[in-house]
Amino acid sequence: MKKTTAPDLIELKRRGERIVVLTAYDYTTARIVDGAGVDALLVGDSLGMVIQGHETTLPVSLDDLLYHTRCVARAKPSALLVADLPFGTFQRGPEATLDASIRLVQEAGAEAVKIEGAEDRLLCIERVAKADIPVWGHLGLTPQSVHAFGGYLVQGRDDIDARRMVDAARKIEAAGASAMVLECIPAGLAEEITGNVGIPTIGIGAGPGCDGQVLVFHDLLGFIADFQPRFVKRYAEGATLLGEALRRFADEVRSGEFPASEHSFSMSPRQRESTPNAAGPDGDS
Ligand code: KIV
Repeated sequence: MKKTTAPDLIELKRRGERIVVLTAYDYTTARIVDGAGVDALLVGDSLGMVIQGHETTLPVSLDDLLYHTRCVARAKPSALLVADLPFGTFQRGPEATLDASIRLVQEAGAEAVKIEGAEDRLLCIERVAKADIPVWGHLGLTPQSVHAFGGYLVQGRDDIDARRMVDAARKIEAAGASAMVLECIPAGLAEEITGNVGIPTIGIGAGPGCDGQVLVFHDLLGFIADFQPRFVKRYAEGATLLGEALRRFADEVRSGEFPASEHSFSMSPRQRESTPNAAGPDGDS
């Protein structure tokens, strides 16, 4: 399949074609997600929650992002490989942002990076874009600002905030971003932002008026049974499905049904002669 690049996503918006993005954090799931034909794989700092079991994305380090991005890059995805910049990178300014971005590209194989927020972050976006590293913005409920927001709350619900966000989106584009995530904002506001920028908007909890949609792999597949926010549609009941398969394995081990002869290796005829009491399958390949 043809490799998808950052400019390809802008072209998809121009043609009015919807963009599909999913998170991936490891080699095996990256292969599955890429095989499903998505346009971009995001190594999100959501890995702090779904992989590491933290309550926020804040403990995720640059080393964590480098490690997981490397794992995903080994799948050689056709999709664009985007890596999140973790907490403590763009918050330290443009130089720290550029250093971290270069490491993600050079050491881990990222093809674009994502920066949360606007205002002072615009300089960070500009610095990275000027180094020819495609950069995505991220507006709305930016999870690294959870403590400043006072929780995981829908953003842009009052008019002043909404106007500020439309303005910020234009500035993110002007700073050189090639796409932006809109997270947990009213659908009408996301649609207005989408109509006001030439780069693709990728929504999560931002309604159908965005140029594309992103979900967290584990949420979409129902891997975390007790987590289902309003904006997630489950396409499988993963926790139930996998739980059932694993219980079946445990039952079969305990009953002796597994492993059967087709899962076992036979001794060579010479070994069999010298150990006549040994049980085991008659032959294998
Ligand atoms: O970290 C992440 O997975 C994200 C997406 C939810 C947009 O930023």
